[in-house]
Amino acid sequence: MPIRCSRVLSRRRWSVKTHKAAISEFIFQEVSMASQTVLVLDFGGQYNQLIARRVRECSVYCEVRPYTTPVAEIKAMAPIGIIFTGGPNSVYDPASPQADPEIFKLGIPILGICYGCQLIAHNLGGRVTAATADSAREYGKTETYFRTDCKLFKGLPAESVTWMSHGDYMEKVPEGFELVAHSDACPNVAICDERRGFYGVQFHPEVNHTAYGTAMLRNFLYEVCGAKGQWTMGDYKDVAIRQIREKVGDGKVLLALSGGVDSSVAAALIAEAVGNQLTCVFVDHGLMRLNEGDEVEEAFRKWDINFVRVNAEELFLSKLAGVSEPERKRKIIGEEFIRVFEAEAKKIGQVDYLAQGTIYPDVIESGAGDAAVIKSHHNVGGLPDYVDFKEIIEPLRMLFKDEVRQLGRELGLPEYLVMRQPFPGPGLAIRCLGDVTKEKLDILRLADFIFRDEVAKAHLESAMSQYFAVLTNMRSVGVQGDGRTYDYTLALRSVTTTDFMTADWTRIPYDVLDRVSVRIVNEVPHINRIVYDITSKPPATIEWE
Ligand code: XMP
Repeated sequence: MPIRCSRVLSRRRWSVKTHKAAISEFIFQEVSMASQTVLVLDFGGQYNQLIARRVRECSVYCEVRPYTTPVAEIKAMAPIGIIFTGGPNSVYDPASPQADPEIFKLGIPILGICYGCQLIAHNLGGRVTAATADSAREYGKTETYFRTDCKLFKGLPAESVTWMSHGDYMEKVPEGFELVAHSDACPNVAICDERRGFYGVQFHPEVNHTAYGTAMLRNFLYEVCGAKGQWTMGDYKDVAIRQIREKVGDGKVLLALSGGVDSSVAAALIAEAVGNQLTCVFVDHGLMRLNEGDEVEEAFRKWDINFVRVNAEELFLSKLAGVSEPERKRKIIGEEFIRVFEAEAKKIGQVDYLAQGTIYPDVIESGAGDAAVIKSHHNVGGLPDYVDFKEIIEPLRMLFKDEVRQLGRELGLPEYLVMRQPFPGPGLAIRCLGDVTKEKLDILRLADFIFRDEVAKAHLESAMSQYFAVLTNMRSVGVQGDGRTYDYTLALRSVTTTDFMTADWTRIPYDVLDRVSVRIVNEVPHINRIVYDITSKPPATIEWE
């Protein structure tokens, strides 16, 4: 029975579904770990999953739930602490998301971040107003002064940089609270009522720009909430395996395997859970790098799993013919992938579940919740509306890349596979600007191979998180031999990052760039100019399309 996907995909991760479609969200939802849980209440901020990830980094289990989660449910979960996220609203706007006042009576410590801090103030008798330019509106890095006798800032410097992004301001601090941080522009940057375990900060401790942000969150968890730090990626693995087993029962799962880190880790996890009820389908869409299809096949044939390779180059290239708009390319590829998987599932018979290695940045950049669509990652936003599977299982959906790698290690995957640089599902189609043809792909494949080869020879792989060539659709005049050429410009891209949500361009040594350039223009026909992309993300993205 086909299920409809698109509405679900655009929903917030933690919402309760009433729609019949189902992207499986079981991994974090019903975990009743013996260990302690921290609850992140989502008020619509940009960095909510980053907060959850930071808490996990501190070895404390964490769940993100919508702000509408009933207090009775929260009480039943018995979290050791609650974090209110930021959000785009003003607390005094009647339509803004509000906290149930009963939550303050549970006796559970609460940390409010930005909007969350203002909510605490607003609910407990303080006053929040719109800041004026010369009082307390602040954006960006801000020198901040702390009282280190407050548990939140214990052991940290009395002065450091925080990342602010707020237009509202706590004009009056609620009774029982103390002011524990200020900046040059704003007297009320952080408040606390240590007796009740309530803390509020106007800045964002979860982003890297806040110098001691993780240390502050750690203080909240360990000094205030009494965390013991028992949660590990090993726990995640065990819970995920148990839940996949319960979900799938004796059913069959088809996994979309690309040979990249994410789908390989998902394959290992699901194989551990349900063994040969899993079939991994590798679709060679003709958009892979040089020799990659054969390499993936060779690697996975050695695994003790059901492995199927589908050669579908002609199909994909015919569907992409004449298409140059990036989002259109992504949608076409997403749709064709699904159709191939459906056909393979029919051959196997009675396959209920489609599994994918979707990770958190794929979800967020495809426009989860209220976040804007940056690009439709093919395994999320690129999915067609109807999919002929009962359910889609995405066990890595809430993990960042480095967490996925950690999980891969827990599952015993070899280091070369765990540390492979990412390769996007739509493959070279989104690195071949303009229309996608076999001729252009072959040019790109060879140039990309030379770039990777020279990086390997220079032993630079570990300094570069992701690096590749892009065939721009631009041609320019050159001179080769004694003749004029009018050929393609190739761009080289390399970034350094941990989470792939933000990235810096890599400072590749000039001599390496020079060797790459000389080899490409000599060995690859139809390229007469090479440029190096020196933009970070943001404002650019890592891929060009
Ligand atoms: P961007 O270009 O959005 O890329 O900065 C962030 C990371 O995601 C990878 N990427 C994808 N991965 N399906 C994937 O599985 C996709 O459609 C997709 N698009 C981008 C990209 O290579 C980078 O690692």
